[in-house]
Parts: sequence; structure tokens; C-alpha cells
Amino acid sequence: MAVKKSNLKAKPQAKPNLHVAQTPKQPLTKPYNDIDLNNWKEYPHILTDTLWEFQARDKTNGHSYDYHGNYIPQIAQQLYERFTKKGDIVLDMFFGSGTSGIEAVNMQRRCIGVELKQELVDYVSQKFDAKTLVTDINIICGDSASSDIGVKIQDRLAVMGSEKAQFLILHPPYDDIIKFSDKKEDLSNCATTEDFYDLFEEVARNGYEQLEKGRFAALIIGDKYAKGEYYPLSFGCLERMNRAGFKTKAIIVKNIEGNEKAKGKNANLWRYRALYGGFYIFKHEYIMLFQKV
Ligand SMILES: C[S@@+](CC[C@H](N)C(=O)[O-])C[C@H]1O[C@@H](n2cnc3c(N)ncnc32)[C@H](O)[C@@H]1O
Repeated sequence: MAVKKSNLKAKPQAKPNLHVAQTPKQPLTKPYNDIDLNNWKEYPHILTDTLWEFQARDKTNGHSYDYHGNYIPQIAQQLYERFTKKGDIVLDMFFGSGTSGIEAVNMQRRCIGVELKQELVDYVSQKFDAKTLVTDINIICGDSASSDIGVKIQDRLAVMGSEKAQFLILHPPYDDIIKFSDKKEDLSNCATTEDFYDLFEEVARNGYEQLEKGRFAALIIGDKYAKGEYYPLSFGCLERMNRAGFKTKAIIVKNIEGNEKAKGKNANLWRYRALYGGFYIFKHEYIMLFQKV
């Protein structure tokens, strides 16, 4: 019997192994972070939406709730990964208990912090070892709104081998909600909210001067009620950031359950006050992102 010729093509032979070495793909990064966009799916922990909800404050790796008014470290973790590279210098103009500095060390960044209260600077300095306080963390006791703060920041930048900072954090007092000191330079001691905005603008301008072009700034702030009226401090400060030269990039709403102790205990009282006074209880604050273009 004649063998029927198959319609199928002959099985292809295995490709010869040419032993060509595969060159590894170069990381695809932006100039302001270390995120490799070739592998962008490998960063599921980085938030990219405008609603941030954290269940509890991170109290590990040197962080604690030792200062009424400190921000939760998860904010710095998110911002540093997104807007800084390893070794970059973060400038925080309201250093407080040093959350920005602690997280800078944890994430191999560096930090310069300005804080008005000497006793707080002394306390926070103890959180870092002597070598770190020269090479990686520099704390200045001074007034962030003053005209001479730029020179002091420049001195520290020079010690750290940089002309400018690569990220700016502004976490000012929320007007007079918490009184941080009796000092007249303290933004929590302004006679009026308009005065608060004016001083804040001075700080924003000083920060703008020290920031590298193309880099980002974060403003962390909440609003307030006083005498039956809502004061949108966040949007007031946003406008002053724009006046100082910053371009607005994002407005993020963040829950504040993690920050607050007192309101939890008095939840019923606040609810009664809200129903009585015709207002709503704050459950959020803002993280606003800006760029120096
Ligand atoms: C909201 S707290 C910042 C807390 C800080 N982010 C933290 O996590 O600990 C604001 C801080 O700004 C400081 N401050 C107020 N006015 C200032 C000024 N003119 N210059 C520098 N610091 C100032 C206050 O003493 C206070 O510690």
C-alpha cells in the first residue's frame, strides 16, 4: 500500500544554542526615586490613590507616640519611597519629635530638621547616635519663618555634601489647635488665622529656596472649627504654597483614627456637640503634594 504523504510540516529542529549572554535590563527609574518601572507590579505596598486609610500608628523601628501632634510614620514611608532616592536629603521645617528623621535613617535617606523649641531638639537628638547626627541627621534649633534660616540650612547641607535638599516636608501647627510653646515665632501662637497663613508662607518660601529643582514637597495639615465656623487651613496653606512658587500635584485625604487618643474617649460627647452645633466630626486630614518645577 502506498504511504499517504502527510499534510503536516516536518517537526522543526531545536534552535541551535548560540550561547549569546542575555544582558540584564537596565532599571527604568525617574530622577526622584528608586522605583524600577520595568517591574512596576512589584510595588503593591505603594499607594497611588487619593484616600489613605491606616488602621494604627506604626510604633516599631524607633517610632513612638511621644509627642502630641506627631504624624504617623507610614506617611513618611509612603512619601520617601515615591519621592526620594537612597541617600537623598529630606528637609523638615517643623521637625517636632523627629518622625521624618527616624524614618529617613530606617530607609537609608538623610534629613535636616528645623525645630523652634530647644528642649525638644535636645530630646530628639538623643534618638540618634553621635555619628548619625553628623553624617545623616542634622537638627537646627531655629525659626523656620525667619530670614536667616536659609544660611543655617545651607551650612548643614554643605556638611552633608549637597547644595540643596531633595524633598521638603511641612507639618506645621494646625493654627492654634495645639499650642506648642509660648514663643511669638511659634505658628501656633498667631493672633489671627490670616497671620498664621502669612507666617506659613514665609516658611514655604524658605523651603522652596532650599529644594532642588524638579523635586517634591509634602504639606501635612488638617482643618479646624472655631466659634461655630469652619476654617479650611489646608486650602489656605495650599494657596500660600502656590504663591511661594510650588505647583500642586496631589491632594490626599488620610484618616485620623490612628493619631488621636483623646477623641476616642470622648466620642459620645463629640457626637452630641456635632448634633447640637450643626457640624461634622473630623475623621480626616490632608497630605498635599507639590513640585518645584
Ligand atoms: C505639628 S508639629 C510637627 C510634628 C512632627 N512632624 C513630628 O512628627 O513629630 C509642629 C512643630 O512645629 C514647631 N514650630 C512651630 N513654629 C515653628 C517655627 N516658626 N519654626 C520652627 N518650628 C516651629 C512646633 O514646636 C512643633 O514641634
